[in-house]
Amino acid sequence: MNNQNIFNEIRKKIDIVDLISEYVPLTQKGRNYFGVCPFHNDTNPSMSVSREKQIYKCFSCGASGNIFTFVRDYEHIDMKEALNILAKKIGMEIKNNIETKNTTKYDKIYEIYDLAYKFYQNNINTKEGIKAKEYLKARSIGEDIIKEFGIGLSLDSMDSLTKVLIKKGYDALTLDRIGLSSNNHDLFINRIMVPIQDATGRTVAFSGRVYNKKSDHKYVNTKETEIFKKGTILYNYHRAKEVARKEKYLIIMEGYMDVFRASSVNIKNVVALMGTALTVEQSDLIKRTSNNIYLCLDGDEPGQKAMMSVGEQLEKLGLQIKVICLTDDEDPDSYILKYGEDKFRDLIDRAISFSDFKLSYLKKGINFNSDLELSKYVDTVIKEASNINDEIRREIIIKKLANETNLSYNTLEKRLIEYLGKNQSKHNDIVIVNNKKGTKLSQYDKAVYGMFYAMVIDRKYFNAFKREALYFTTAPYRYLLTEIEYYYKKYSTIEIADFYTYLLDKEDVLALYNKIISYVDSNTINDEAVNDFMKVIKENNVRQEINRLKDLMRKTYDELEKSKIAEEIKLLRIGE
Ligand code: CTP
Ligand code: MN
Repeated sequence: MNNQNIFNEIRKKIDIVDLISEYVPLTQKGRNYFGVCPFHNDTNPSMSVSREKQIYKCFSCGASGNIFTFVRDYEHIDMKEALNILAKKIGMEIKNNIETKNTTKYDKIYEIYDLAYKFYQNNINTKEGIKAKEYLKARSIGEDIIKEFGIGLSLDSMDSLTKVLIKKGYDALTLDRIGLSSNNHDLFINRIMVPIQDATGRTVAFSGRVYNKKSDHKYVNTKETEIFKKGTILYNYHRAKEVARKEKYLIIMEGYMDVFRASSVNIKNVVALMGTALTVEQSDLIKRTSNNIYLCLDGDEPGQKAMMSVGEQLEKLGLQIKVICLTDDEDPDSYILKYGEDKFRDLIDRAISFSDFKLSYLKKGINFNSDLELSKYVDTVIKEASNINDEIRREIIIKKLANETNLSYNTLEKRLIEYLGKNQSKHNDIVIVNNKKGTKLSQYDKAVYGMFYAMVIDRKYFNAFKREALYFTTAPYRYLLTEIEYYYKKYSTIEIADFYTYLLDKEDVLALYNKIISYVDSNTINDEAVNDFMKVIKENNVRQEINRLKDLMRKTYDELEKSKIAEEIKLLRIGE
């Protein structure tokens, strides 16, 4: 069985609506299902999924594809992994010799990182790791956590890792470039090593923590490299994402220790920000796990401040945000250690809504004697209240605010109504979906798109196109036609969804196919429409041929030849 057949077989056994529903809530409207597209920032349901055609397409960003491309792009993995995940779903065993383009120019770097990861891990289990393990044990980090997170140790030596890697044939310059060495010396010396993995679980960086001496730097971190862009990584994401999908929420914490501790009490839907501000890429990853996000950053002032900005950023993506409130100077690690699993689970159950958190945060530190500060505070609170979709809660907030500030309820309510009105018109704006962004097609291109769509869904249209001896002159159109022709010869029919798989390694053609599928509305395809498409394409072919002949005539000096060409042009014009 060749690859295409394996893909097609799996594709037939997994319904795309069921599959995508596992990731994105879908609602049925007519024959199609709609949901929020995970491939661009949106809160509108602009992605449609067709059970009939077994494809999805987004009217806003133009993404389209089949079950394989969905899983690949959603999980940020390659085709081979997507294939394995889906094969596993139906209990099918895939032998490892499937060829999908899996090699990247970074393969060597991943390989080196994997070696370093194993080297560090091995160290901690030797005599030299005894002190490190004692340190971890004193912090109640046991063997199981060490194993689960692949915690390792860099040795108390200037060049032990560098030597090992050089011996394996890697060159010193590469090791410098990828952040493991510097001039034949190790960058990590005598530290507990936390490996950092990307969304697919490949080790891409390390964080080394001091443990048995004083140092100005608690952690030494890998610099940014070709495979490590700090802003694109969330610590523990590759493990937490599946659990979060099952548990239906994800918890965001600050550091490694918090994640280790939570995991030790069997709370595994947790990622860590690694102490930095949230980037767009990270929010995008978060959005892929669940609509329900719990923030549990440190109880101190910087932690609370970070919670405000992280929460606001995630709220903009339409996610439901809750805040787990720790007492003043605790972090999740210290809280769980001190009070235990049950108390922490209570805290999760009692997490407050983000708007409640915001209101109480805003109130802190306000100088009620300053007119300016007070009026700013009042305004922010009312604005916040206007975003709450619950009339009773809004009234409670406004009443409380009136009492707190000695302002009249009516004045505050007036302002609230103003904000509610503004929100209303904002919502109305959003309803106009940004349809088929950037695709202004000429009449000819529209006909070509329609024709391609028709040729893919029904062979008779392909035959008609050939019978009429029509052709395309631009490269991507020609290539796509060739692929369609080849596929019909080999498999005799085309399924829209399977053709995606076939085109995977033909990037330009795939991009065109993608555009066609997301642009054309299948309901508009019928015999009459196809005849119109062919007419437009034919006219274009004739016009191009006339131009070619005119050009030829200009370059010809033989009068007899010239008149022959003129005759040809005349005939074409009659036909036109
Ligand atoms: N961090 C860092 N460099 C530092 C301090 C912090 O990279 N010098 C990042 C780490 O990712 C760390 C996170 O910020 O996990 C949170 O910081 P902190 O709470 O201080 O670290 P913990 O990992 O909790 O370590 P510990 O409890 O051992 O102090
Ligand atoms: Mn900490």
